[in-house]
Amino acid sequence: MPEISDRLRNLPPYFFALIGQRMREMQERGLDIVRLDIGNPDMPPPPHVVQTLAESVRNSGKHGYSGYQGTPAFRQAVARYYQRRFGVDLDPDTEVLPLIGSKEGIVNMSLAYLDAGDISLVPDISYPSYATGARLAGAAVYWLPTVASNYYLPEIDVIPDDIASRAKVLWVNYPNNPTGATADIGFYNKLTRFCLKNDILLLSDNPYVDVTFDGYQACSALSAENAKACTVEFVSFSKTFNMAGWRLGAAVGNAAALRTLLQVKSNVDSGHFQAIYDAGIAALDHTPQSWINERNAVYRRRRDRILEALPEIGLVADKPKGTLYIWAHATQIASQEYIERALTEAHVALAPGEAYGKGGKNYIRLSVGVSDDRLDQALGQLKSWYTSAYRSG
Ligand SMILES: Cc1ncc(COP(=O)(O)O)c(C=O)c1O
Repeated sequence: MPEISDRLRNLPPYFFALIGQRMREMQERGLDIVRLDIGNPDMPPPPHVVQTLAESVRNSGKHGYSGYQGTPAFRQAVARYYQRRFGVDLDPDTEVLPLIGSKEGIVNMSLAYLDAGDISLVPDISYPSYATGARLAGAAVYWLPTVASNYYLPEIDVIPDDIASRAKVLWVNYPNNPTGATADIGFYNKLTRFCLKNDILLLSDNPYVDVTFDGYQACSALSAENAKACTVEFVSFSKTFNMAGWRLGAAVGNAAALRTLLQVKSNVDSGHFQAIYDAGIAALDHTPQSWINERNAVYRRRRDRILEALPEIGLVADKPKGTLYIWAHATQIASQEYIERALTEAHVALAPGEAYGKGGKNYIRLSVGVSDDRLDQALGQLKSWYTSAYRSG
């Protein structure tokens, strides 16, 4: 076989693909591993979404290509959602672009804007695809430290001028994976001013905007002053509507940036299956807020169950106001050792914080995306293991 490309050789393997391989090997040995490491919603989408898909699939007119910009009806539904949810007006023809899952758009946006010598500003502790996109494009990543003492918000004021002048994009994500941190509109106003001043595209990845607890309402970066002049936001159906496997999302905001993204996408993919767009419209237009609230109440209950158990399993964490995650660290041993022993001795998989950047090194991410029974089982196994390993005697 020929040599693989330098582009790929320079890319670290995707952490969750590696751990998935290890899980399969352990399962083949007959071990039952409870997975608290992945943020994969365990509950189904709203029933009307599934019904719409089933009806649409049976329609013989829905099986052809649906266009590089998806269907107008889908784009209009996304625009209606932004107006209803955030009071933000979007032109469905120029300010909404469907994606095959937001991850696809995130990586392609970097390919659309970055070359060798360019800089992507990426929070250290963030979803890996922001840095991956920059690396695939041959660009450099400038890491913005995000630390607990600053609520996991990057300090924009300390970015050196020569870095700001070479940077083309800035990534943020609140409610945040993996830390659970949140941001208010004042933060986005500040980012918008910084990006407009330095001619930087602000990229707000917002998949957890509707996964929030305790009365907290997350906002859109597009609600900031002058946001559309420099901002694109990534919308995902994966977590909002429990549709992770359906691969549906959208990029919304600055029209020029969306045209550029479309230039990449129209050369790479040919849009989604129309039935998926139809189901997406049903999700956006006909999912009552009560469905979202009830789903979030299940996650909140699981979050609280984990938080209550933490002292008995040697972990500490803050209470997150959103996302599927608890960002914890071990109190008695190094977090890496904790994760390894939890997997091999308690048969519970946890995500290492360093998968999200160097700043995450001493942290462990736990997910609430597992059924109540499996969560109880995982916490029980962790308690027995931790008690016998570290607390007996
Ligand atoms: C912060 C963040 N962005 C993007 C994604 C990708 O979502 P999608 O399923 O829409 O590709 C995820 C998935 O976990 C995520 O946590």
